[in-house]
Amino acid sequence: MDALPIRAEPRPLGRSSLHAFPLAYGSWRFAGSSLREARAKIDAALEIGVNLFDHADIYGGDGAAEELFGKVLAEAPNLRSRMLVATKGGIVPGVPYDSSAAHVREAFEASLRRLRVDTIDLYQIHRPDLLAHPGEVADVFVRLRDAGTLREVGVSNYTPSQFEALQRFLPFPIATHQPELSCWALAPLRDGLLDQCLRLHVTPLAWSPLAGGLLGLGVAEARGRAGGERLVALLGILDALAAREGVGRAAIALAFLLAHPAGVIPILGTQRVARIRESTDALRVHLSRADWYAVLEASQGAPHP
Ligand SMILES: NC(=O)c1ccc[n+]([C@@H]2O[C@H](COP(=O)([O-])OP(=O)(O)OC[C@H]3O[C@@H](n4cnc5c(N)ncnc54)[C@H](OP(=O)(O)O)[C@@H]3O)[C@@H](O)[C@H]2O)c1
Repeated sequence: MDALPIRAEPRPLGRSSLHAFPLAYGSWRFAGSSLREARAKIDAALEIGVNLFDHADIYGGDGAAEELFGKVLAEAPNLRSRMLVATKGGIVPGVPYDSSAAHVREAFEASLRRLRVDTIDLYQIHRPDLLAHPGEVADVFVRLRDAGTLREVGVSNYTPSQFEALQRFLPFPIATHQPELSCWALAPLRDGLLDQCLRLHVTPLAWSPLAGGLLGLGVAEARGRAGGERLVALLGILDALAAREGVGRAAIALAFLLAHPAGVIPILGTQRVARIRESTDALRVHLSRADWYAVLEASQGAPHP
């Protein structure tokens, strides 16, 4: 069987000089644990080679996840040099989105303070604000880069044309595109987003790579969810491949993403140290083209045209 290539080495983030391990760690669910638990998760991620840590100002509500991460860094400042710190801004509960220059600048500065870092390696607009002119967003990014507090920029939940519009106003390339992407959430394979990443050398960061936990469900529970029969069929294929490869189901779901030629970096969301460690199994999985398409077809519930 010819296995699809899964590269385990760090790769450049877009066309930037930053390099990231093929798995990242996300802090959406990170707030609420003790400092000791938080440190254990960060240590486990670093031990397996993860260096990109993905935050957002709203994670945990009111910056709580960034704050907890910042406390860990304050306690162990030597960890900072082993990390790329990524965060996002632009969601304002009740508005719901604001990417005006004033808001982005204020959100960026607040993230810097909570994370207790001097620079943010990757700053992303969390969701597109339809009322923000891309030229205004680009202008703030340029100013923050000139000030030396921001290294690279990215976008999240942008359509390919929204990406193109922002890129048009920036004098440097956008490094990352962060869509929802998993073997259950396949839109970026079809809407041109991954093609755009390939064409422009942009790194896709996949949010909820295990479909927010749906891919961890038992069969009975999965059947009760929306699209239940399709989900059960998908879990069946993932389990069969996992048994063949001697890994857990999550490793196959992550490998499905890692095998795509765009160089997708799945953002891990588990809060369990053992699962963080196990996720490297994804880097040693052998998936054939036929395996990959079988997963795709089970997910879409129809043969691939
Ligand atoms: N840009 C955006 O709009 C956006 C939106 C959502 C998320 N994100 C980013 O993506 C990151 C990951 O998202 P996510 O947390 O939804 O990721 P995910 O990996 O799809 O889902 C994590 C959930 O799955 C469970 N899980 C993980 N491994 C499992 C396994 N082997 N078996 C069973 N259950 C398992 C976890 O439970 P345990 O903790 O118990 O393992 C957790 O509840 C976030 O932290 C954030 O950085 C971005």
